[in-house]
Amino acid sequence: MDFRNQAITPAAVASAQADALLVVTVGAKALTGLSRNLVQAIEAAVKQGDFAYKAGRCLYAGRIGGVKAPRVAFAAAADASPKAFKTALTHGLGVLKGLGVKHLAVAVAGLDAPVEAHAEALATAVGDAVYLYRHTKPSAGPAPRLARVTLLSSKAASAAVVRGLRRGSAIVAGVTLAREIANRPGNHCTPTNLAEQAQELARTAGLKVEVLARKDIEKLGMGSFLAVAQGSEEPPRFIVLRYSGAGADDAPVVLVGKGITFDSGGISLKPGAEMDEMKFDMGGAASVLGTFRAILQLKAKVNLVGLIPTCENLPSGRAVKPGDVVTSLSGQTIEILNTDAEGRLILCDALTYAERFKPKAVVDIATLTGACVIALGHHRSGLFSPDDGLADALQRAGDAALDPCWRMPVDAEYDEALKSNFADMANIGPRAGGSITAAMFLKRFTAKLNWAHLDIAGTAWKSGAQKGATGRPVGLLTHFVLGYAGQP
Ligand code: BES
Ligand code: MN
Ligand code: ZN
Repeated sequence: MDFRNQAITPAAVASAQADALLVVTVGAKALTGLSRNLVQAIEAAVKQGDFAYKAGRCLYAGRIGGVKAPRVAFAAAADASPKAFKTALTHGLGVLKGLGVKHLAVAVAGLDAPVEAHAEALATAVGDAVYLYRHTKPSAGPAPRLARVTLLSSKAASAAVVRGLRRGSAIVAGVTLAREIANRPGNHCTPTNLAEQAQELARTAGLKVEVLARKDIEKLGMGSFLAVAQGSEEPPRFIVLRYSGAGADDAPVVLVGKGITFDSGGISLKPGAEMDEMKFDMGGAASVLGTFRAILQLKAKVNLVGLIPTCENLPSGRAVKPGDVVTSLSGQTIEILNTDAEGRLILCDALTYAERFKPKAVVDIATLTGACVIALGHHRSGLFSPDDGLADALQRAGDAALDPCWRMPVDAEYDEALKSNFADMANIGPRAGGSITAAMFLKRFTAKLNWAHLDIAGTAWKSGAQKGATGRPVGLLTHFVLGYAGQP
C-alpha cells in the first residue's frame, strides 16, 4: 500500500484527484473553509437525516457535482483525537468497501491540522480494512484493489503527516505479517514453518536469524521448554533474530514471543469447544516477527533481539505428565502440575537465554492465560513489570499506537501460590489471580533482567464471525522499540 501526503487548501479539496474522496468531519464547526459543493452536500444530507456530526455516522454520497472524485463518502468523528479519527475512518472505509476503489483521498474537516498520530491512524485503519486471509482460502476472492491512499492536509502539516504515514505504513506491514502468520492453521504453521518465516524475513539486509533444533536446545539445557515439546511429533525450534541498527556497544532490547503453534493442553487436555482457536497460541511469536518487519522497514537506529521458543503442546505416550519435575535452563526445578500451563514453561528458558545479550530491557509477549481475558476483556493487553519506568514506556507506547495495555500487579505476596513440595516451584497456582501467578512464575527467571510481560490472550485474536488474528501488539511494540531502544 502506497500512503501519500498532498498539501492542499480546504477550499481545493473538491479538485483532488482520486477514485474516491472520504471526508471525515470533526465536530459541528467541521465545515469551515471546505469546498462549497462539499459543504452543500453535507448540509443537505444532515437536513435530510442521512448524516449527522455524531460518532459512528457515515454516508456514501456517490457523485457530487463539482467534485472531481467520482465517489464521495462522509464519516463523522466524535472529536479531534487520533482514536476518534481512526474509528470514523474505519466506518468510512466500510461504506466504500467492494467498490473497487484503487486510489482513495482522505480529507479532514474541522481539524486545524492532522498531526503525526492522525496520519499513522489513517495508515493502520486502511491496513486493518484491506487485509484478507487467502492462504488456505483462495476463494475468499482477489485481494482488495486499493493501492494508494492520499491524506489531504495543509502545507504546514506536511512534514508531520509524512512522518506519521511512514511509521504507520511500517506498522501495517508488521501487523499484516503477524495476522497472516497467526491465521495459518496449525498443520501449516508448524514450528519448522515458523522458523522458515523468520528466515524469509532475514532476506532483508540488516537481519540475522539463527534457528536451533532439538539437539541444540538439549545441549543448552532448556529442560522446561523441551518438556512441553516432547509430546509432539513436530520438532521444536528456538529462533533467534538479531537486528543491528545502532552501534555494537548499544545494549539491545529483547522481545520474547510465545510460539505454541497448537495448544491442546497436553495430558491436561482442554475441552473441545473452541479448541481450534489454540492455533493462535503463537500470537506472541507472530507479533515479534511483525515488529521486526516494521523496524526493518523503518531502518530504525536500534539494536533488537527476538527470541521465539516454538513447539506444539500435545498429549501422547511421550508427553510430560502432571507431577513430572523438570530442570529449567536457569537450574531451577519446576513441578508441572498442569501441562496446559505450558506457555510459561517455554518462556522461562527463553528469558534465561536473554541474559546473554545484556539487554536494556526484555519484554515477553504471550497468549498466556484465560484469566487475563476475564480480567481485561478484549480491549487492553495485560502488562506486568516490577519496573515503573519500563511499565510506563510500554503503557505510553500502547496509547500512542492505539494498541493499549493496562498494568497489573506483581507484588511478592502473589508468589506464595507457586510453592511446591517437590521442586523449586510449581507451574500453576490457584484459579484466583491466574494471570498474575503466571507473571510471578516468569518473574522468577528475570532477577538479572529489566523485564516486562504482556499477556495478549484477550487481544491477539477475535472469536466468532470475525474469527481471526488482530496483529496486536505489533503497534505497541514498534512504538516501544522506537522510543525505548532509541534512547541512549
Ligand atoms: N494458551 C492458553 C491461554 C489461553 C486460554 C489464551 C484461552 C486464550 C484463551 C494457555 O496455555 C493456557 O492454557 N493457560 C491455562 C493456565 C492454567 C492451566 C493455569 C488457562 O488459562 O486456563
Ligand atoms: Mn495451555
Ligand atoms: Zn498456551
